[in-house]
Amino acid sequence: MKEEIVIVGGGICGLSIGWFLARSGYPVTLLERGGAGLGATWAAAGMLAPHAEAEPGEEGLLPLLRASRDMWADFARELEAASGIPVDYRDEGTLVVALDRDDAERLRFLYEFQRGQGLPTEWLSGYEARRMEPHLSRSVVAAIYSPQDHQVDNRKVARALVEAFRRAGGRLREHTEVTGIVIDENRVLGVRLTRGFLEARTVILAAGAWSAQIPGLPEEVRPPVRPVKGQMLAVQMPPEAPLIRHVVWGPDAYLVPRRDGRLLIGATVEEKGFDASLTAGGIFRLLRGAWEMLPGIDELPIVEMWAGFRPGSRDDAPILGPTGVEGLILATGHYRNGILLAPITAYAIHHLIARGELPEIAKPFTLERFRSRAPVAPSGSGR
Ligand code: FAD
Ligand code: GLY
Repeated sequence: MKEEIVIVGGGICGLSIGWFLARSGYPVTLLERGGAGLGATWAAAGMLAPHAEAEPGEEGLLPLLRASRDMWADFARELEAASGIPVDYRDEGTLVVALDRDDAERLRFLYEFQRGQGLPTEWLSGYEARRMEPHLSRSVVAAIYSPQDHQVDNRKVARALVEAFRRAGGRLREHTEVTGIVIDENRVLGVRLTRGFLEARTVILAAGAWSAQIPGLPEEVRPPVRPVKGQMLAVQMPPEAPLIRHVVWGPDAYLVPRRDGRLLIGATVEEKGFDASLTAGGIFRLLRGAWEMLPGIDELPIVEMWAGFRPGSRDDAPILGPTGVEGLILATGHYRNGILLAPITAYAIHHLIARGELPEIAKPFTLERFRSRAPVAPSGSGR
């Protein structure tokens, strides 16, 4: 008889882990204080882009990002089959564009780094980039094409995970806040709720940007995670004649086209705590950055604006696996790559519970790294 497992947080990480565990027969209860999938998971752009977003300083993280990207096509297929909900996985690839000679120099540096890491990216002239995306501005002077950087509709993924988790026998309790993790003699006993206590000898903390705030965590196992705000907006393209089909990154914004014609424009990166306000300056810079790459957005209606909180860890890499407290497992700190890293996170935590240890690829990402040696990727390396 397998013992009850409790997951705190119903974002993409908690839901993916829950689905993997429930479908292999573990009794799992997932506790979410709001609606499942409405945190950073809902705010994200859905890019699965280990290459386009790779930067010098992130070499330690890259193998994990790439391994998860390699899992995504099957993950999406299995999720659609298990839930009956399409998640719009798209594999056209990503363009990173330069708008002037300075940008082109920076892009060339990034390209040399990517080639040095053996990443399959291609250098394009402005003319070649416009042949792929004819509506790109004439100011685009060069681009990197990254065919293996894909995208998915993260909001649909969250809905599909809720359904797949439930169909696999998982218990989802929304609007249920965990007010404390109960630990005695260095072992987890369960979680405290607004009303009552839920006993569990395994508790997985997947509360995203809020993970450090859960009461009851001893200081030495509190994950060093903070909110990193991102503002975004969406404009509506004609679905039958979208302006672009690839994801496009520029110096001041990225563009993510959805199947329904929405074009997501993201995202700011701000250290503002949990302040969720939309600002004129933030939205202005995104629109200007988008317009410089794709002037055709000029007349398009704005259909949505929002902000979310990336769970940023001290070294921008996720925190996965066991802690010094028996039964307490962490799955948090995914920063700008939580959608991309969902499959490998679920695989790693399932592996830990089923076999008693993390898979090799996830071993460098435990909480222990902050005490024992240099972090996986130096902080501040995010764009
Ligand atoms: P969340 O989705 O935030 O889920 C955590 C959940 O825990 C929340 O639902 C919250 O309500 C719940 N919770 C918190 N406290 C409690 C409690 N006490 N009790 C119960 N429940 C609790 N990543 C990519 O890979 N690609 C992208 O293109 C991308 N774009 C992004 C763009 C923006 C603007 C932002 C903000 C993020 C982006 N990310 C992207 C990052 C990605 O969204 C996150 O890394 C990922 O969603 C983290 O998932 P999570 O499940 O850890 O956290
Ligand atoms: N990965 C995109 C973002 O965090 O904005």
